[in-house]
Amino acid sequence: MSSTHIIVTKQHGYAIVQFNRPDVLNALNMKLMEEVVGALESLDKEQDVRCVILTGNEKAFAAGADIKEMADASAIEMLTRDQFARWDRIRKIKKPIIAAVSGFALGGGCELAMSCDMVVASENAKFGQPEINIGVMPGAGGTQRLTRAVGKVKAMEMVLTGRMISAEEALRWGLINKVVPVEYYLEEAKNWAREIASKPPVAVRLAKESVLKAFDTTIEGGLEFERKNFYLLFASDDQKEGMKAFGEKRKPEWKGK
Ligand code: HXC
Repeated sequence: MSSTHIIVTKQHGYAIVQFNRPDVLNALNMKLMEEVVGALESLDKEQDVRCVILTGNEKAFAAGADIKEMADASAIEMLTRDQFARWDRIRKIKKPIIAAVSGFALGGGCELAMSCDMVVASENAKFGQPEINIGVMPGAGGTQRLTRAVGKVKAMEMVLTGRMISAEEALRWGLINKVVPVEYYLEEAKNWAREIASKPPVAVRLAKESVLKAFDTTIEGGLEFERKNFYLLFASDDQKEGMKAFGEKRKPEWKGK
């Protein structure tokens, strides 16, 4: 795939989308975000891609939205650009997305990591919502996703002080899944991607959809949604194969049907 601001590579069963603006710590300008979202949408349609990793480099996952691109914009320009609406398309991606974070994940970078389904971080990762320091506030889901992930008081701390937290703190606060030494963060994310790629794809899809439902429904509506998806899986060949293989004490062979 030819792009300017991202590098897309495909491995067996999964793909990696790497932000590629190292000179500006992968600041997320509109072009980069359009490329990222476009790549996710096109990978979502590829049958042999079962999971996607979003990553930056050792120094920065992403240091936020591109401040220089927004600095002189008027409110009406921001409204008509509606650049953060593009981010909503990430929520529609059916395949699991893993963020592999090293270095800065700030502002939009932190919000992008939180838009992923799981987050693996290196020991030197730093998460923060520093928008308050430049006269604004989070605009791509930070106040909502962070609050749901870490609770009110810690979200307030991050959003109102702009303080960065370490990977260890982020782990303790429940913002991320795992912290590993910097030389392994991408490898670890690849291990997870490979593991997910080895699971029955239809069940993975419906399971992801069901977990996400918990964010925007009542417990009753969510349980109903989950149950329907569970029942629906009994229409798949993979359910028959998985349960048969269990009885026969052998490894199942998934067809993705
Ligand atoms: C544009 C950025 C940038 C950003 C860094 N750079 N972050 N450019 N937008 N968000 C550029 C710098 O201008 C500089 O370019 C180069 O990257 C290296 O950055 P330095 O500041 O020299 O590096 P360092 O001293 O190591 O400091 C790292 C840093 C700092 C602490 C991360 O760069 C920083 O505070 N960045 C801004 C973080 C931030 O406020 N993010 C929130 C943005 S608002 P030059 O050309 O000088 O070499 C946001 C809104 C979200 O995200 C809304 C939804 C998306």
